[in-house]
Amino acid sequence: MQLFRRKPIAELIDESGNPNALKRELGAGDLIMLAIGAVIGAGIFSSIGTAAAGEILPNGVVVRYGAGPALVISFILLGAVCGLAALCYAELASMIPQAGSAYAYSYATLGELVAWIIGWDLILEYAVGNVAVAVAWSGYFNSLLSGFGIHLPDYLTHGYRAVMKSSDPEVQALMQSAPRFLGMPVLLNLPAFAIVAAVTWLLMRGVRESARANNIMVVIKLLVLLLFVVVGSMHVDMNNFTPFAPNGWRGIHQGAAIVFFAYIGFDAISTAAEETKDPQRNLPIGILGGLAICTVIYVIVGLVATGLVPYEQLRGADPLAKALDVAGLHTAGWIVSAGAVVSLTAVLLVFQYGQPRIFYAMARDGLLPRWAAKVSGKARVPYITTLLTGAAVAVGALFADENEIYDLTNIGTLSAFAIVCIGVLVLRIIDPHRHRPFRVPFVWPVTLLGAGACIYVMSGLPPHAWERFAIWLALGLAVYFLYGIRHSTLQHGDRGDEIPPLDGPAH
Ligand code: ALA
Repeated sequence: MQLFRRKPIAELIDESGNPNALKRELGAGDLIMLAIGAVIGAGIFSSIGTAAAGEILPNGVVVRYGAGPALVISFILLGAVCGLAALCYAELASMIPQAGSAYAYSYATLGELVAWIIGWDLILEYAVGNVAVAVAWSGYFNSLLSGFGIHLPDYLTHGYRAVMKSSDPEVQALMQSAPRFLGMPVLLNLPAFAIVAAVTWLLMRGVRESARANNIMVVIKLLVLLLFVVVGSMHVDMNNFTPFAPNGWRGIHQGAAIVFFAYIGFDAISTAAEETKDPQRNLPIGILGGLAICTVIYVIVGLVATGLVPYEQLRGADPLAKALDVAGLHTAGWIVSAGAVVSLTAVLLVFQYGQPRIFYAMARDGLLPRWAAKVSGKARVPYITTLLTGAAVAVGALFADENEIYDLTNIGTLSAFAIVCIGVLVLRIIDPHRHRPFRVPFVWPVTLLGAGACIYVMSGLPPHAWERFAIWLALGLAVYFLYGIRHSTLQHGDRGDEIPPLDGPAH
């Protein structure tokens, strides 16, 4: 029965009143900016190339079909799918304004085991996803440096895994030419490591400082995309729009499954619930407003990108800059690269911010070791989880291949979204009279359609993503049954030394 024990909502809300509480600093505007900061990043600057052009291995095996110019349809459909999930997030976030986001909501609705699985999935979304963003950041950063004539040694800008998976013979040659340590080639992505370390340092200084840095980066990323749209639209060639959907529905579906990465993040602001002023009002505005703005931007950028060059030429790590380059717009291409570096930094910031707060919530509940929930004295930051996340992501980024990571992050996030949709429905049924500051309209069709649509998008991912996801889940269940189930505070009624006992009734 413990597996399905639910955490009383009264207790979840009271949690914010404990002496280890975080500081309430953020308003609706900050949240919209945080959402844009999290959402617009590697997805639009990098993965849209693969979504439009598809992915074929050097041996001719098709990993996925591309959407072609119909990428715009993938974007619109994903906007709708995420819109359904966002409505559900908004209802739960306004009702349970707690740092753990989807993890906390499912603890209240579907019980401890599902909550643990969601928390485990969210690691794929936040920490693992950020490894890919850091590697993409490093790629853009290195091309910017080369623009200034500075060249770091290749073996210090390419991770071992990325070299292993690359189909580019020049990159593969690094396996032989790199210096060796104990017989192994030294292949490390140092810029990716360094940016994660820098972002972690910033986050340790406190949430107000981090939000301010984010606001500046968001303004820059919006200006850069505006430049891309204005300059690019003057050079659109209508011939590039035919054929519009070269791989039919299959291309639109499989393109959507990878470019979904571009949408991830509107939900991340729900992890700021305990640092938000008037969260019941501001969280729904932040989540839905941020998503709406990003959807409009993606549709326009997608139209211009596929109109600027034949869609096959968008393949590669920096499709937007490349599209401008191919069209002869070199200066604009360089500015867009610089903008990508800034945009990806903002994404890193928001996700490095979110992951420690989810760990914090899980540790507070005893599903992870309790010492991890400690908050630093002055800045009121969950410093242990912030440092641990920083270390894990930075080390991962030293070695990783970004493409391997997009699919895994997408599958983990989509499954969390599906569970959140179901959670809203369950809570409406079992606890219909609770005050809901924001209510999902037409709750039955919206929640069921939302969950079904997420599963449908997942089905467009390649088989290796499913295999790895299954392994990840098995690992998570092992951790839960070996540790979490024995230490859960809900099970033992023991809330630790720092957190005073709460007497909310058990459901
Ligand atoms: N949506 C974020 C990005 O595209 C994760 O980088």
